[in-house]
Amino acid sequence: MATLSSFVPNIVFVLVLILVLGIIVPRVEARPRAFFVFGDSLVDNGNNNYLHTNARADSPPYGIDYPTHRPTGRFSNGFNIADLISQRIGAKSTLPYLSPQLKGYNLLIGANFASAGIGILNDTGAQFMNVTRMHTQLDYFKAYQRRMTALIGATRTKRLVNQALFLMTVGGNDFVNNYYLVPSSARSRQYSLPQYVKLLICEYRKHLQRLYNLGARRVLVTGSGPLGCAPAELAGHGRNGHCSPKLQLGAALYNPQLVKMLQGLNRKLGRDIFIAANTAQMHKDFVTHPRAYGFVTSKVACCGQGPYNGVGVCRTFSNLCPNRNLYAFWDQFHPSEKANRIIVHRIMSGSTRYMKPMNLSTILALDATT
Ligand SMILES: *[C@@H]1O[C@H](CO)[C@@H](O)[C@H](O)[C@H]1NC(C)=O
Ligand SMILES: *[C@@H]1O[C@H](CO)[C@@H](O)[C@H](O)[C@H]1NC(C)=O
Ligand SMILES: *[C@@H]1O[C@H](CO)[C@@H](O)[C@H](O)[C@H]1NC(C)=O
Repeated sequence: MATLSSFVPNIVFVLVLILVLGIIVPRVEARPRAFFVFGDSLVDNGNNNYLHTNARADSPPYGIDYPTHRPTGRFSNGFNIADLISQRIGAKSTLPYLSPQLKGYNLLIGANFASAGIGILNDTGAQFMNVTRMHTQLDYFKAYQRRMTALIGATRTKRLVNQALFLMTVGGNDFVNNYYLVPSSARSRQYSLPQYVKLLICEYRKHLQRLYNLGARRVLVTGSGPLGCAPAELAGHGRNGHCSPKLQLGAALYNPQLVKMLQGLNRKLGRDIFIAANTAQMHKDFVTHPRAYGFVTSKVACCGQGPYNGVGVCRTFSNLCPNRNLYAFWDQFHPSEKANRIIVHRIMSGSTRYMKPMNLSTILALDATT
């Protein structure tokens, strides 16, 4: 009798344990992989809202097509590239690292460290004052891992990070908001354009190596867009609606060297860690043939003022197009949600012309079987 009475509570305990684990464990296991985002305004989900900076998108009409129809800090009329990738992996959008909501089990989604205005170099975007530069974004990722470790332990944190997807979107500002910001900028007096591109690639490689050292094993790395074709550049440096040749040359030198650098890193690390997304080609498709992609124009921004709506920033008093889906550019620099959808579609299922060595759907399928 004594053995039975001690046996019954044990059975009850085991049953309860199975029940509880049955509820908790599959939920944790079935979670989408974590997603970590680093970079600039193309992927910032609202970090700059928490900073003393003038690089911000927290006033209308930003967010006009977001589910809440309110500004969130995203430089888009709706979702940005990071959000749309989250959706493709079946996850919620990443929260800004600086958001007070990023705590507890929200940490399992991953985090967004991106900050509008930053570049590969520390001195890029100096005019935006307090923005989170790349080395600080990586410091924050380290701090994130410490918080995660406190929550789920070191082993599971390491696994979560190793199995996560990463996105790196940076580099455009190193041209637009540094080398070519003003005629005869400090950097352009210091370096010829080819030398400057070499410097960018060399510094970028260090950031990526550090990201790898911090545990990243699958990293999408976007190239620069056709920088010279943004409405701001058509208004500022272009002639008669032609893209700015200087900025186009910068992008043309930079993008192939970026791909080479990533291939070199992968060879050194012995695995396809870094995946190059040819965003220049993705943009070029609809910049060259806007109508084929359902746009009425790829030159005029939906929101702004002056020629091509490319002068100054998008604010409440700016011109605003009634149908954002017809514009490739939302504001003077940033694609519309519709354009972001085209880009993410290519990232998901584009051929090797767009994605090297493979597209994201191939990666997701590969990683699901290992
Ligand atoms: C950028 O700034 C950080 C922090 O001040 C510093 O550690 C790093 O060495 C700087 N990078 C370069 C290339 O100067
Ligand atoms: C920038 O903002 C961060 C976070 O709000 C703060 O910790 C830091 O001291 C600020 N730096 C400057 C230079 O204002
Ligand atoms: C990219 O993804 C699609 C699936 O969406 C696949 O059919 C295709 O073969 C892939 N292309 C390459 C070049 O990997």
